[in-house]
Amino acid sequence: MNLPDLKKAKIRSLNQVEYKVQDYAFTRMFEGKKYFLRTYGCQMNEHDSEEMKGILEYYGMTPCEDLESADVILLNTCAIRENAHDKVFGYLGRIKHLKKEKPNVIVGIGGCMSQEESIVEEIRKRHPYVNFVFGTHNIHELGRLLIEASGDAHQDIEVYSKEGEVYEGVMYKRDSHITAWVNIIYGCDKFCTYCIVPYTRGKERSRKMKEIVKEVMDLKEQGYQEVTLLGQNVNAYGRDFKDGTEFSDLLEEVAKTGIPRVRFVTSHPWNFTDKMIDIIAKYENIMPYIHLPLQSGSSRILRLMGRRYTKEEYLSLFEKMKERIPNVSITTDIIVGFPGETESDFEETLDVVEKCKFDGAYTFIFSPREGTPAAKMKDETPLEEKEKRLQRLNERINLYSKESNEKLLNKVVPVLILGISEKDESKVYGYTDTMKLVNVEAPVDTIGEIISVKITDAKSFSLDGEQVKE
Ligand code: 5AD
Ligand code: SF4
Repeated sequence: MNLPDLKKAKIRSLNQVEYKVQDYAFTRMFEGKKYFLRTYGCQMNEHDSEEMKGILEYYGMTPCEDLESADVILLNTCAIRENAHDKVFGYLGRIKHLKKEKPNVIVGIGGCMSQEESIVEEIRKRHPYVNFVFGTHNIHELGRLLIEASGDAHQDIEVYSKEGEVYEGVMYKRDSHITAWVNIIYGCDKFCTYCIVPYTRGKERSRKMKEIVKEVMDLKEQGYQEVTLLGQNVNAYGRDFKDGTEFSDLLEEVAKTGIPRVRFVTSHPWNFTDKMIDIIAKYENIMPYIHLPLQSGSSRILRLMGRRYTKEEYLSLFEKMKERIPNVSITTDIIVGFPGETESDFEETLDVVEKCKFDGAYTFIFSPREGTPAAKMKDETPLEEKEKRLQRLNERINLYSKESNEKLLNKVVPVLILGISEKDESKVYGYTDTMKLVNVEAPVDTIGEIISVKITDAKSFSLDGEQVKE
């Protein structure tokens, strides 16, 4: 039994990061069994789920789409906001009933919520039917936990609150044969005052460049068209090596592999260097798309958030990107209702939105996370007011994302086709270089290819188009 500890999770020592090779214990005891895995949250979690699937399928298990047919149920959880918590506990209600009918079903909970003290307490007290809880640092122990759970009714909690290591040799069962996630840096040391991530994911630690480039080369050889380099904060890449390595160096090496498309998420506006902008502009296979979280347009609130930039600094970085990277599209994240946010602070946010006219944005109401400094800050704005602000913000955001989509009308753009369109089965769908979703009139055999598409209609969240042959 190892319980999470928020105080330990906060520690950032000068200890060297340990580089290890993943070693998965093998067993045949799950052959022919079915697993159900549900993932909440960000791309990092999606990619962690690909590791979980890799392990389960290594043991001979196959996925299933419904809870009722599963022998193993895993929830890979998210801790970023309260609603993620509610969703998971809502789901556990269903699992509890199922467990009464099928007591041999193994239930495991992993991901960021598992790293929270109060959540684990709640699971221990109210959800004894959960077989085991594991965290973000020990996904590789999933096999051992499963083996132990199948012969034992005791609940096991194995969560480590530590700075973390870097593992190579991870077995992924990737969801796509066309696009792939590639971890480049784990953890976060920014400690923005509202954010739980530095506590759930440990300190910033980069994978070695040669391992990343090798992974991308392998993916390219397998026919992958696109990689997305993943990190909570990709521009911190390489700084822990203390040898002058920067994210721009890695980006250049990855671009040189010649894989058709390179993307990266997420970038922090702080220390987004000129060199990074130049490299993005220089290589055709680095996509002209940057997700650049703003969080707030008020310098006062940004300071309370611990974001390390002002409104003016954000705006000048934004302008620089627009000037130097041809055709770049920029999206953002914004939080409304941070403790102490006044109407005039909120208007500063609207002002930045007005100036930047983002291609898109994810917008959130501040959600206090236990253990973070912002959770203890005085917050007098009623929820109703925060909801109104969110609505006002979303109206603006949607207007500008529609406007930016409309600029593509009648233009021919490159689209990487990923599959059959969910909206219309006679169409396929894909993404432009600028990360805009397009439903395309084109044959099914274009899936996996980058094709030229003429845009025929533009909405707030998607485009329609037809293939043009050049
Ligand atoms: N409350 C609301 N939104 C949050 N985010 C992170 N923490 C919180 C929180 N406590 C948002 C930020 C971040 C995105 C991934 O989630 O905007 O960029
Ligand atoms: Fe959270 Fe800030 Fe780190 Fe992003 S940079 S994960 S918002 S602490």
